[in-house]
Amino acid sequence: MAAQKTILKALAGETQDVPPIWMMRQAGRYLPEYRATRAEAGDFLSLCYNSDLATEVTLQPIRRYGFDAAILFADILLVPQALGADLWFVTGEGPRLSTITDQAGLDALKPTSDIHETLSPIYQTVRNLSGALPPETTLIGFAGAPWTVATYMIAGRGTPNQGPAHALKAENRTVFEGILARLTEATIEYLSAQIEAGAEVIKLFDSWAGSLKDEDFDRYAIEPARQIIAALKARHPDTPIIAFPREAAGKYVGFHAATGADCVALDNSVSPDWAAANIQKDGCVQGNLASSHMVTGGAALTAETCAIVKAFQGGPHIFNLGHGITPDADPDNVQRMIDAVRGG
Ligand code: CP3
Repeated sequence: MAAQKTILKALAGETQDVPPIWMMRQAGRYLPEYRATRAEAGDFLSLCYNSDLATEVTLQPIRRYGFDAAILFADILLVPQALGADLWFVTGEGPRLSTITDQAGLDALKPTSDIHETLSPIYQTVRNLSGALPPETTLIGFAGAPWTVATYMIAGRGTPNQGPAHALKAENRTVFEGILARLTEATIEYLSAQIEAGAEVIKLFDSWAGSLKDEDFDRYAIEPARQIIAALKARHPDTPIIAFPREAAGKYVGFHAATGADCVALDNSVSPDWAAANIQKDGCVQGNLASSHMVTGGAALTAETCAIVKAFQGGPHIFNLGHGITPDADPDNVQRMIDAVRGG
């Protein structure tokens, strides 16, 4: 049966007059209704693990804007937590985790088969959503890519240059590669369970791919993505996969073929005209309006949105931001972006 939903059509390689649209972090702090539900849940992690409230916040931007896709409300750091790492969020600062920097830390992780015990509420959220979404809306599941998740596990927090992860790679490659291998295995099981619960598309977030150079990029960004995608395709051949090697710059070229991804998501730094010529020829692309337009709005927002739509109109395209929307964004600017995509 041919795909009917606009997101699935784009992922199947169809060129559409109006590209489908959704937004990274579309359920988030810029929305008053999100802030209210988050307050009800208590804190961010309690919200992730409360299936009813996580379902509610996932649906909020669909109700308000009618996006073509909903993305499961969860976080990439739930996988290390399910493997036994301690995880908490410091308000105004971000995530903190217990660190893993040696063989003993790696050996202390729980077996991959144990992750479902922690993650079962997430699968329940997916099941809720697949029953609750409008028929035209696609449900996207996700996970962090092993390199990006490992940077948090090794440093115990977010780091500007991923220095601790690069240091471990240089000093103890066996442990470093062991962490990536465990994450690759756990991510395959986590994403398979999301698909079995009703996720129709999977997105793999490699937010820190841009700090991997040359052969490190091949080994630690491309290779884990290739393994995860191959395993998922073997089990679930009809589920399309979006890869997001953020700030990969010139290494975006050939990423579809190297990993088997159906779609490559582009960050803000990539020129749409260049990407249309060099990346979209290989398959669907997603992106890539700068999130700052959701704060600043005005004529530049409309002009840039229309320029991106035009640049990618010759091939399969899913409109999105180049990274997540920020808490200081104006919800009205989101509507202006959608109107520019759908009306122009
Ligand atoms: O896109 C979505 O709406 C789906 C849900 C989602 C969240 N995080 C919710 C969230 C997704 C896909 C993520 C991915 C994620 N999480 C990434 C990769 C994508 C990216 O943004 O680069 C990363 C690196 C994380 C780890 C993480 N989670 C950090 C560094 C932070 C703190 C940053 C901040 O803005 O405070 C989070 C928290 C987080 N994850 C929030 C949300 C809505 C904010 C939590 C809150 O309500 O306080």
